[in-house]
Amino acid sequence: MTTPKQATQAQAIPRPETGYRVAFVKPKEHYRRLKKEIDGAIGECLTEGDLIHRRQLFDFEKHLAEYVGTRYAVGLNSGYHALHFSLLACGVGPGDEVITVAHTFAASVSAIVHCGATPVLVDVGEDFNMDVASLDRYITPKTKAIIPVHLNGRLCDMEAIQNLCKKRGLLLIEDACQALGATFQGKMGGSFGHGCFSFYPFKALGGFGDGGAITTNDPHVARVATLLRYNGEDRETGEFHYHGYTALLDNVQAAVLDVKLRHFPNWVEHRRRMADLYKSELATVSQVRVPHFPDPRFRDSFQNYVIRAQDRDALRAHLRQEGIETLVSWAKPLWKHPALGLGEPKLPMTEAVCREVISLPMSAETTEEDVTLTSRAIRNFYARQ
Ligand SMILES: Cc1ncc(COP(=O)(O)O)c(C=O)c1O
Repeated sequence: MTTPKQATQAQAIPRPETGYRVAFVKPKEHYRRLKKEIDGAIGECLTEGDLIHRRQLFDFEKHLAEYVGTRYAVGLNSGYHALHFSLLACGVGPGDEVITVAHTFAASVSAIVHCGATPVLVDVGEDFNMDVASLDRYITPKTKAIIPVHLNGRLCDMEAIQNLCKKRGLLLIEDACQALGATFQGKMGGSFGHGCFSFYPFKALGGFGDGGAITTNDPHVARVATLLRYNGEDRETGEFHYHGYTALLDNVQAAVLDVKLRHFPNWVEHRRRMADLYKSELATVSQVRVPHFPDPRFRDSFQNYVIRAQDRDALRAHLRQEGIETLVSWAKPLWKHPALGLGEPKLPMTEAVCREVISLPMSAETTEEDVTLTSRAIRNFYARQ
């Protein structure tokens, strides 16, 4: 039987190093490169019996907070729970409206729904991120928070969004699940509001299973999330403060993530180099738009390299035939899944990008050869038309 999570994520789960000449991501190669360090870290946890809520978790939280530039980081079992707990800790509940985009993974919106609040979906701009200019007209007396989603490793315009939140008294929760390492005006994503991260295996910083974290400067949000993740219990006193959840970041995952975090800045630089190479390799192809948006305030981390392509589905079939693995996130706008009950918002840019987007191979293991092969196949496809 297909579970709900399998059904919604089916399109987003890359097949690892199958018969493709150019794999979308390379988890086996990723492990091979880090094997010694990772085996050491896991071995230490297992040898010492450090499985739940131990030093490795606290070390990772400390290092993550340092990297993002916040006072606190709270390790959780998913990006979904980071969003859900941030909203709960901010007091979002029934009767509230929360503004976010439809061009995102379902979890951004489900977290709002599971708090009993109403998601208000807005359109995106050319860079696939929240269209900030349109926000004002969606704000009502019921609006409690805004969740900008930093898609594909590019932050939203945080100057405009922070100013708006201040002016209108709104809470700011960042869906930074795709944006660890990306900056705006030199500041890391996840440090503007309450940051929500995912360490799903194919994220730029990925574990060997699900994982997530909240980064924040607010001691209240950090404390509530810390309690909620452990069924509401204060581990120091044994007192239960809430009906909570089982949502802790596993210690073994934290140990692995802590190893990877040390390499992470180099991986971001590698992604930027591969992105620049795609840009120059595809410069002559008028049928595709590459994701480079000249504005010196932004430094993207290229979690994904997403182009907009004419005849996207035919291009994708051609690339598959050429042995090149790609993804489409997402072919159908979220509100067109009737079971989600999101109404029928008019978001023309979201609809357009759903028809056109295709993600090209991109990971810390993507090579120059992968990029040139992929780009050549794209050029050939359009040359034959
Ligand atoms: C933009 C965005 N938000 C939220 C999530 C949810 O993260 P997780 O799968 O760790 O729950 C993801 C993960 O795919 C994501 O990409």
